[in-house]
Amino acid sequence: MRILVTGGAGFIGSAVTRLLVLERGASVLVVDKLTYAGDRRNLRDCEGRPGFSFLQADICDRARMAAAMAEFRPDAVMHLAAESHVDRSITGAADFIRTNIDGTFSMLEAARGYHAGLDAEAKARFRFHHISTDEVFGSLGPTGAFSETTAYDPRSPYSASKAASDHLVRAWHETYGLPVLVTNCSNNYGPYHFPEKLIPLVILNALEGKPLPVYGDGSNIRDWLHVEDHARALVTVVERGRIGETYCIGGRAERRNLQVVETICDLLDARRPMGTPRRGLIRFVTDRPGHDARYAIDCTKMESELGWRQQQSFESGIAQTIDWYLANEWWWRPLREQKYSGERLGLITQKAS
Ligand code: NAD
Ligand code: DAU
Repeated sequence: MRILVTGGAGFIGSAVTRLLVLERGASVLVVDKLTYAGDRRNLRDCEGRPGFSFLQADICDRARMAAAMAEFRPDAVMHLAAESHVDRSITGAADFIRTNIDGTFSMLEAARGYHAGLDAEAKARFRFHHISTDEVFGSLGPTGAFSETTAYDPRSPYSASKAASDHLVRAWHETYGLPVLVTNCSNNYGPYHFPEKLIPLVILNALEGKPLPVYGDGSNIRDWLHVEDHARALVTVVERGRIGETYCIGGRAERRNLQVVETICDLLDARRPMGTPRRGLIRFVTDRPGHDARYAIDCTKMESELGWRQQQSFESGIAQTIDWYLANEWWWRPLREQKYSGERLGLITQKAS
């Protein structure tokens, strides 16, 4: 199997690449611009392995993407490259519009040209797998769950840009016959998670005895899935998913944000006692503008049609994740010192960019 993975130096893309290269023996070309969120150190286990290669490039550069496909000759493109942080999209949407929408358009056109030039056998094998988010579905009330038939209702600049990209992908299937697959997943957590997101930010702040910012009253709910379970789901879909179909992926692990933060405090207290309980570091801060109340995924289709099951419960996964951060200061220390030290993001301080 030859897979071109965009965004493979990011959090989820690197987990997918590790799975493909180290466990599946696939040939992988990672295409990544290495923005603030991309880091080649995330791929250190794959460097030098047979079949692994890396191209630093921008997905918006269509000629470069076409050349990469022509040269590498992938059986599938797994498209993960994106601007991914909701708070950053609130204060600066431009990069989200460019990468998530224009970049996906560029990938689709490059793939369409490449696909058209393949022989019948390679053409039948080729897949364009677009990796998306449950945030395109908007915000749930206290009951129910998102599924493949839920109407789109994105509410942040990030989720609107991902929704637009999902629509483009489906249009390229319907109009041009590009063999696409779309997946929409809930919140991931695990190793190599950039410490701007809730879970790694709280682990590192708590470790260092710093305040733990909880937006609003901490009652917002997310459905958490370990990144390696997501990676397994994605590889299952690219191998066995039906062309033109959408698959929703989730953890069946709804937790209120405050519960997540308290769990991290308690697990860290048990591992690295501080003298006083870390729950005392929790600070309720100004809410995120347009904060979605609740996400939950009904992943029945993944389970019944493709036989995928998550392997990690939230309890085992969060404990493993905390242990990973404790053991891998070499990874996060430079990010905290040089790229992002934990200041508040996503508050509206000006009218327009
Ligand atoms: P991430 O921010 O950790 O990684 C994104 C990667 O894309 C980085 O390596 C970055 O360098 C690269 N990139 C950004 N702009 C690029 C460009 N113009 N050209 C080439 N590369 C570029 O993101 P992530 O959390 O790993 O998310 C990966 C994908 O999964 C995204 O499409 C995201 O929308 C989706 N997703 C994420 C989650 C989650 O919980 N993190 C859940 C569901 C879906
Ligand atoms: O649902 C999938 C999405 O999950 C992905 O598409 C996104 O790429 C990914 O970033 C994630 O989005 P969220 O906005 O849910 O993740 P984040 O970690 O930023 O926030 C999780 C929750 O925690 C959310 O309700 C906001 C809250 N939060 C976040 C931060 C950073 C806090 O309370 N305090 C914080 O400091």
